[in-house]
Amino acid sequence: MSAEWSPSSWKSKSIAQDVTYPNPDQLSNVLSKLEQLPPLVTPAEIERLRYQLSLVQRNEAFLLHAGDCAESFDACTQQNISAKIGLILSFSLILIWGARLPVVRIGRIAGQYAKPRSSPTETINGKLVTSFRGDNVNGLDPNDRTPDPQRLLSAYFHSTATLNHVRGLLTSGFASLHHPRDWSFNHVRSPELREEFEFIVDGLSDALDFSRTIGAERSAPFEQGGGRGTVGEVDFYTSHEGLMLDYEEALTRPAPSGSGHYNTSAHFLWIGDRTRQLDGAHVEYFRGIRNPIGIKVGPSMADDELAKLLDVVNPSKEPGRITLISRYGAEKIDAHLPGHIEAVKRSGHPVVWICDPMHGNTLTSSTGYKTRHFSAIIGEITSCLRIHTSIGSRLGGISLEFTGELNDEGFSVTECLGGSMELSEEQLGLRYQSFCDPRLNFEQSLDVAFLLSNHFKKERRGKQVGTDHDVLYSELGGRESKV
Ligand code: PEP
Ligand code: CO
Repeated sequence: MSAEWSPSSWKSKSIAQDVTYPNPDQLSNVLSKLEQLPPLVTPAEIERLRYQLSLVQRNEAFLLHAGDCAESFDACTQQNISAKIGLILSFSLILIWGARLPVVRIGRIAGQYAKPRSSPTETINGKLVTSFRGDNVNGLDPNDRTPDPQRLLSAYFHSTATLNHVRGLLTSGFASLHHPRDWSFNHVRSPELREEFEFIVDGLSDALDFSRTIGAERSAPFEQGGGRGTVGEVDFYTSHEGLMLDYEEALTRPAPSGSGHYNTSAHFLWIGDRTRQLDGAHVEYFRGIRNPIGIKVGPSMADDELAKLLDVVNPSKEPGRITLISRYGAEKIDAHLPGHIEAVKRSGHPVVWICDPMHGNTLTSSTGYKTRHFSAIIGEITSCLRIHTSIGSRLGGISLEFTGELNDEGFSVTECLGGSMELSEEQLGLRYQSFCDPRLNFEQSLDVAFLLSNHFKKERRGKQVGTDHDVLYSELGGRESKV
């Protein structure tokens, strides 16, 4: 690995998941335009996230990383964005309540448009076509599969519109703890879930009343008109897989101090499981940016390879810089995670470990849908908690593919099986809207939130916490026994 890094040094390395554009001149015009456009996020925000992730590493906060597998340009609407943020806020409130730790929220949002694919081609209706690579590369329509560089510009502007709405929501009182019922909770049908959430909200209202009475919650006069107060705004960060290196390079800007570079397309970027080759272009690009980064760690990662990768991307062992996102599958986690944790410990690298229980648990239903079973997702989380605890490590967060999106009639998506709503194979077709991986819907996501929250509540109170699957399942009030 050469010591010289520049935003374009990745070009001298071999690149996995490359996209070939038929017209290179069009691509360079688009990239020149992107280089002129303003940054989406600021170095100060990125440094703030790095600091907060160092707190996660010290067990002083918990990380929630969540959102769509892939965003689409068509789904960039006011309603969808509000529903996504509402779910992230509801999930984090439940966690904060149980764990009594601040939650660092990173959305897979405002730029999560590119997808790696296992195969460059696929067969649709008997015809061999280029695989769909995400809205910033080509179209989902099988007749629109030629990579078009204009889509990178469109991705920038859709990211900007999304982020603008997110910032607007969060500074206008949407995140206010005084109105958590506004976060699209109304459509949750499960009485048990509603009851549990109401319980938290009531407890919170009491706590807020109490703080107000003793004067702990003060609002500056200018904040009163807009609904902003000390508990009315929250930190929120954006992320996407840093797959399209041309795009990432165009948004890489020198630090205001003159030393180092920031990727200003998102606060947090991650290297996918298919692009983490030690001598590859993605690792080369990622090693030079100041942003905190994630690395997907799956069953094909060797223990010593992980340690070497950490040496490359974080040679000075800076806290808050690296988040390892483990994604083995419920069946495989026991065979891989302990070795990976031990290898990282031996290397002396500071990392945050988070669990992605989605990507190792994908299957095809008998009805032909790409899906995931809630019980496998819970199974991987449960094993992950147990393994970390048993070898003196700690699970610092969770990475989920979920959505609070509703259809016009107010119904949530039906993409993953099970959960307290007991979604069956026959129901998958009702509202299967993902064009990529299946996402947990609002209720299934809250099931996960309560499970984690209850786990940390018991741990906090020093009670024996269940470490096996069945015990954690029963912590959800027995609802999952029906799944
Ligand atoms: C993803 O996070 O959507 C993804 C493709 O994950 P992985 O790289 O772990 O397969
Ligand atoms: Co995915």
